[in-house]
Amino acid sequence: SQRLHSDNSVSVDPAQIVDDFRKAFDGRIPHLVARAPGRINLIGEHTDYHDGFVLPAAINREVLVAASPRHDRALRVLATAYNERVTIALDALHPTGRNRWHDYIAGTAWALTNAGYELVGADVVIRSDVPIGAGLSSSAALEMAVARALCAISEVSWDALPMAKLARKAENAFVGVGCGIMDQVASGAGVAGHALLLDCRSLAVDPIAIPAGLSIIVMDTGIRRSLGTTEYDMRRKACNGALDAARRRHPDVRTLRDVDPALLEAIRSELDVTAYRRVAHVVAENARPAQLAAAFAVGNYERAGDLVNASHTSLRDLYEVSSPELNFVTNLARRTSKCYGARMTGAGFGGSAIALVASEAAGAFAAEVSATYRAEGSAEGQFFTCHPADGAALLTV
Ligand code: GLA
Repeated sequence: SQRLHSDNSVSVDPAQIVDDFRKAFDGRIPHLVARAPGRINLIGEHTDYHDGFVLPAAINREVLVAASPRHDRALRVLATAYNERVTIALDALHPTGRNRWHDYIAGTAWALTNAGYELVGADVVIRSDVPIGAGLSSSAALEMAVARALCAISEVSWDALPMAKLARKAENAFVGVGCGIMDQVASGAGVAGHALLLDCRSLAVDPIAIPAGLSIIVMDTGIRRSLGTTEYDMRRKACNGALDAARRRHPDVRTLRDVDPALLEAIRSELDVTAYRRVAHVVAENARPAQLAAAFAVGNYERAGDLVNASHTSLRDLYEVSSPELNFVTNLARRTSKCYGARMTGAGFGGSAIALVASEAAGAFAAEVSATYRAEGSAEGQFFTCHPADGAALLTV
C-alpha cells in the first residue's frame, strides 16, 4: 500500500486511505484527506526549548487523515495501525496526561477549541508510515495532520505557525510531554528540498536548500525511546541554576539562548560540572544551525560533515542524551567513504541517527551500513534515504 519514496509528494497512497474510510464508514467517500510529515533534524539539538536555533526538515514519511463532517459533536476515529476505534466528545475534552494515539487527537481538538475555534464533529481515519518512537516525530505529524483536517472540516483558515503552537500546547498540556516547538513547525511549514532554519523565539523560518550532491540517510537504530522519560525534563531543569548565575551578571538573560561563550566562562566557577557541560552543549549547538546553513550555501560538504559530527560528540559527552546504538551506528557511518558526517537526530536515548552522504553513493552506503549494523548491533534497524518534503497540506481526492 505504500509507494516507493521516490519523490517529494505523498508517501502513503491516498487511494488506500479512501478505501480504509469506505470500509470504516458504510461505503462513504471522505470529504477530504490531509497529510503532515515527520521530520529529521539536521542540527540544533536540544536547543528549541531554550529558545534557540534549529535546522529540521520535513521528510517523505507522513500521517494521512481522511475526514468527513458529522452532524453531532463527536469525532469518531479509526487508526489503521491498531485497527482500533475511539469516539471523542468535542464537548468533554480534558487533558489526560497520557500518550495513547488518540490522546494526540483529542489534545489537538482541545487546543484548537481553547484557542476559540469552533470545531464540528467528524468521521476520521488515520494512516501513517512515520515509524513510531523512532525520533522522527510521528506524534507531531499526527497532531499537524489532524489539525489540518479539523480546520478544513470546520472552515477554520490555516496558518502553519499558529497551528504548530497549538499542536505543541496539545502535547505539553494535554498529553503532558514537555517538548519544544521544533517538530510541529517542521511538520507544518516544511518546504520540499529544503531544511528550515528556525528561530524558536521569534518563530522566523528561513528555508535552506539542501545541496543536490548530498543525501540524508535515516539510520533508525530500532531501539525505541520514550520522550515521556524523565531524562528529557531533567536536562531542561539542569540548566536552570545556570540561568540564575547568568542573570546575576546580565539581568536581560531570559533563556540559555541569551548566554554566549564568554558569559558561560564568566559563570563557570558557579556551576557544578554537570550543569556546566549541559550549558556548554546548548551554547555551542546554538551556533551550529547557521553554520551548517552557510556550509550548504557554498557547497562545503566536509565542513557540513564536521559540524554534524561535532554536534553528535557534544550530545554524547556534554548533554549525555545519546545511546550505545546511536554511537555505534554513527561510527559505522563515518567509517564509510562518501559519508561526510553522522549524528543522532531528535531527543536521543534511542531512535534514529542521520548521515550526510554523497548522493551518488547513497544506495551503497545504506546497504553497507545496514548490513554491518544488523550483523554486529543489537537490533535490526531501518535505513533509508529521506527527501525533504512540504509541510501539512490538503490533498485532492
Ligand atoms: C524532541 C522534542 C523537540 C526537541 C528535540 C530535541 O524531538 O519534541 O521539541 O526538543 O526532542 O532537539
